[in-house]
Amino acid sequence: MRNAPGHYTATAKWLHWLMAAVWISAWLLGFSAVHWHAVNADHQVTFWHKAIASTLLFLIVLRIGWRLAHPAPELPASLSPFMRRAARHGHLLLYAVALLALPVSGWLWSSVVGRPIMVLGLFQLPPLTAEHGGMAPYVKFFHTYVAWACGALVLGHGLIALKHHFIDRDEVLKGMLPARRG
Ligand code: HEM
Ligand code: HEM
Repeated sequence: MRNAPGHYTATAKWLHWLMAAVWISAWLLGFSAVHWHAVNADHQVTFWHKAIASTLLFLIVLRIGWRLAHPAPELPASLSPFMRRAARHGHLLLYAVALLALPVSGWLWSSVVGRPIMVLGLFQLPPLTAEHGGMAPYVKFFHTYVAWACGALVLGHGLIALKHHFIDRDEVLKGMLPARRG
């Protein structure tokens, strides 16, 4: 159950890729709901944006619990102390903002406008607060701009991982991919 040298545990890898798939789908659905009117005339895209994105609120609890018990593997020795610090802070930002603050702000937004969130279309999430129309524009502003900022952050994160693999040719991306047998 320990991280093999240079590798995340299998559970950490599953959680990373599952949440990455959910996150990217949620982003694309949120974008389509707002900007692609033809497909969202009946608000079904909004429904599925909320239904899928809200699973992150549950998965993040498992993920943080697992991460606290299983530290990340060491980064390659070729990385400068500055780059190590940058990687640590970048990951912290992904956890705190993309995986925590963003879904919580969506939850708060639906709560203050009194709209339901059906997790995976199966059960309703209780509202975070009572309805409060006056707060709605502020929460909407936060959710929208933080979603865009996180889109840029995640794009940068994915590109850096690919740079490590194809340009620096180090083990960073392999540490998050399924381990080779044998
Ligand atoms: C409980 C979780 C969430 C809820 C309840 C929620 C709710 C909403 C709602 C109601 C909208 C407006 C949709 C419309 O007007 O039809 C929206 C937009 C959006 N959401 Fe979320 N959201 C959640 C999580 C997320 C997450 C995790 C992401 C990122 C992966 C995200 C990204 C977006 C984006 C990109 C937009 C469009 C922003 C724009 O350009 O106006 N949301 N969200
Ligand atoms: C676009 C495809 C993605 C690729 C190629 C990718 C790749 C990676 C790699 C290689 C690592 C390990 C870095 C290291 O060892 O220092 C990592 C860590 C991480 N990734 Fe991604 N990732 C992707 C998408 C995402 C998404 C969408 C999110 C969440 C919004 C995310 C959140 C994280 C976090 C929080 C960590 C730190 C893990 C920890 O140390 O606990 N990633 N990712």
